[in-house]
Amino acid sequence: MFLFSTKADLQAYLKPMRDENKAIGLVPTMGAIHNGHLSLMEQSLNENDCTVVSIFVNPTQFNNAEDLAKYPRTLERDMEFIASLSDKIVIFAPAVEEIYGDNAIAQAFDFNGLENEMEGASRPGHFDGVGTIVSKLFDLVLPNRAYFGEKDFQQLQIIRKMVEIMKTPVQIIGVPIFRNNQGLAMSSRNERISAKGLEEATFLYEILLQAKKMFVTESSEKVQQFVENEFKNNPTFDLEYFTIADEESLKPILQKVEGHKYRGFLVAHIEGVRLIDNLSFN
Ligand code: PAJ
Repeated sequence: MFLFSTKADLQAYLKPMRDENKAIGLVPTMGAIHNGHLSLMEQSLNENDCTVVSIFVNPTQFNNAEDLAKYPRTLERDMEFIASLSDKIVIFAPAVEEIYGDNAIAQAFDFNGLENEMEGASRPGHFDGVGTIVSKLFDLVLPNRAYFGEKDFQQLQIIRKMVEIMKTPVQIIGVPIFRNNQGLAMSSRNERISAKGLEEATFLYEILLQAKKMFVTESSEKVQQFVENEFKNNPTFDLEYFTIADEESLKPILQKVEGHKYRGFLVAHIEGVRLIDNLSFN
């Protein structure tokens, strides 16, 4: 395993790879590595000669200083976990100054409106921060492929839009959501939920599965009502939003259009933890 903390060292390592036309895969993360992240790395290892995993808690994508301060930073543990998957992975874990100098600000992006839906509505500027760091990483690593989880489906679509607009020569690969045996999507936030809460949290996936089934025969309004009612009857959860949206525009569905793909998106709170999940409805 290789660990680099400066751009110069990483680039010096990657240059001969590029010169030999080796395929480079990039997996951007903010650390607190779990099995969901490992599934992205596994796919990159299978498809590339070299896999770079960045571990960087990106300040410009946080709306709130407390969230940024509280974000887990567990590099030692992350490295051990990654080493258990493969000893071939290259880790890039820079300090904030290495990436931003002394001016950590986000560039403003236009993602064709994708940034204003769902997560963008509740976290203004968040996707500018994501675009800023991901484009910096692309410029630095020049990957052939970059891997993003469908767990953050909106982020994945925004990155796809960004490379299309900026004509960045990288293939964006979306990786399916990695779930535990009960169906709960893996997230570093799950560690903040009690054992009982974790059992109850499987409710989110169950509801998404039921909603998907209903969506085959019922109107989207009916499905929406069903999901909202289920949450009203479940005191454990606070529903922040449930939306059925078009996968391309990310806009809420008005009526089903033949050939379009739809997805159910859910955000709910349990024990003060905000959980996010989604499921393809096609
Ligand atoms: P982070 O939350 O660390 O997630 C890193 C990548 O892992 C993202 O692409 C995310 O969608 C994916 N991921 C997380 N949990 C997953 C799961 N259960 N199944 C599949 N994929 C999963 O997302 C970010 O970091 C940042 O915004 C980043 C892109 C690194 C930019 O700072």
